[in-house]
Amino acid sequence: SAVVSQDLHIVNQILSPDGYSRDTVLAGDTFPGPLISGNKGDNFQINVFDDLTDSALDLVTSIHWHGIDQKGTNEMDGVSMVTQCPIIPGDSFLYNFNIPDQAGTFWYHSHYGTQYCDGLRGPLVVYDPSDPQASLYDVDDATTILTLADWYHYLSPVGPIVAQPNSTLINGQGRYPGGPASTLAVVSVTQGKRYRMRMINIACDPNFMFSIDGHQLTIIEVDGSNVQPLLVDQIQIFAAQRYSFVLNANQPVDNYWIRALPNTPGASYTGGLNSAILRYAGAADTDPTSTLTTSTIPLVETNLHVRVCIAPGTPTPGAADINLNLAVSFVRVGTHFTVNQVTYESPPIPVLLQILNGTQDAASLLPTGSVIGLQPNKVVEIVIPGGAGGGPHPVHLHGHSFYVVRSAGNATYNWVDPVIRDVVSIGTTSADQTTIRFVTDNAGPWFLHCHIDWHLNEGFAVVFAEDAPDVAADNSIPTAWDDLCPAYNTFIGSSS
Ligand code: C2O
Repeated sequence: SAVVSQDLHIVNQILSPDGYSRDTVLAGDTFPGPLISGNKGDNFQINVFDDLTDSALDLVTSIHWHGIDQKGTNEMDGVSMVTQCPIIPGDSFLYNFNIPDQAGTFWYHSHYGTQYCDGLRGPLVVYDPSDPQASLYDVDDATTILTLADWYHYLSPVGPIVAQPNSTLINGQGRYPGGPASTLAVVSVTQGKRYRMRMINIACDPNFMFSIDGHQLTIIEVDGSNVQPLLVDQIQIFAAQRYSFVLNANQPVDNYWIRALPNTPGASYTGGLNSAILRYAGAADTDPTSTLTTSTIPLVETNLHVRVCIAPGTPTPGAADINLNLAVSFVRVGTHFTVNQVTYESPPIPVLLQILNGTQDAASLLPTGSVIGLQPNKVVEIVIPGGAGGGPHPVHLHGHSFYVVRSAGNATYNWVDPVIRDVVSIGTTSADQTTIRFVTDNAGPWFLHCHIDWHLNEGFAVVFAEDAPDVAADNSIPTAWDDLCPAYNTFIGSSS
């Protein structure tokens, strides 16, 4: 194992990735931010500098390492007002955490307000030096990353209730309706070779229908867990989810459209919208002329099976140690969501700090009614009915991956080899009773929320206070973490 040490400067910059200029908040000076990568077992030390100056956008920040469990390092999870106070301009904070037993495709993003919609998002890959997939799939190249993003010409969080992204950016490039024929991302392949590609939906809102004209895709990894190979020709990928697939470059030398249609009104492929280019070596430097064919083998969630596993606890619905039902509602007046009748509002003091200060009882933790206590070493089952405000909502849990024992759209359970995820779509109707299980083996306050960032902003979230006594007993938290709140309080005091 090694130390992955990297400086990440958070900056404002004018960018026109689709031909339209706007001010942004970036990690480094690119969109998406620089790739952060290392090996399973490594110690990650990412020093985040807040160099923000534009007060039309958020000036403070915190960074979340999406999908990383942070076992024993809850204070490095990066969620503003859950696990830390935000970093203020001119300051920096060292995120120092180990990734002992996870590998696969992840990402990082701002977890302050809706700041990542303004640009602060990037890929994070943890390689497994002894990846079982390597020998199984015999790929020639495993370096391709595809980030799919929604892009807005207005600054967050201003905007319509139903978000209307102006363009889809694939690897930071795209076109918008009526805009110039901007350069699109090109993925280069050589005929006869096989590629492992890592796809990450870094959107604030849409799910994308992803396909590559003329090619099938073999899915081998979902949200950082290896799955039994599944051949598909279309993947519906929800916000914050990831897939690795193997692409066999077995077609005639040519250009082919890589397509990512968002589920937002009016989305089309006219003039290269929502697209990138798969280019074989030897093909001309032009837009493809390939056509979209109807999918015959789309990804079906229940066809995903983990390679090795058994869902924990008694294989009967409702027979876990802790059984929870999260009823989500959407309130159109004043637009907010409720989870079990409560709208999540950011507390004045981070939940973790409240626990360290001696409050252990979930009912006494702020925000009132949004904190759910969990005892250690229990099997937890959570049922989340779909349909609130239409959906489909991609629900994300921090601190754990979970077994999806019942998927949206299904009446049956899989207790044997269910897919393991950290973001699951909970479907579009209340008949969808998405059911997940995990074991409480990681003390800390962990966020559960809709990964449509606008919905999080509208209160679609709860915090699990997992094993609060153990959190309170933790004395390994670095001094720099203790300094965040006094600095932040002074900063907001002086700017209000
Ligand atoms: Cu991608 Cu709360 O996280």
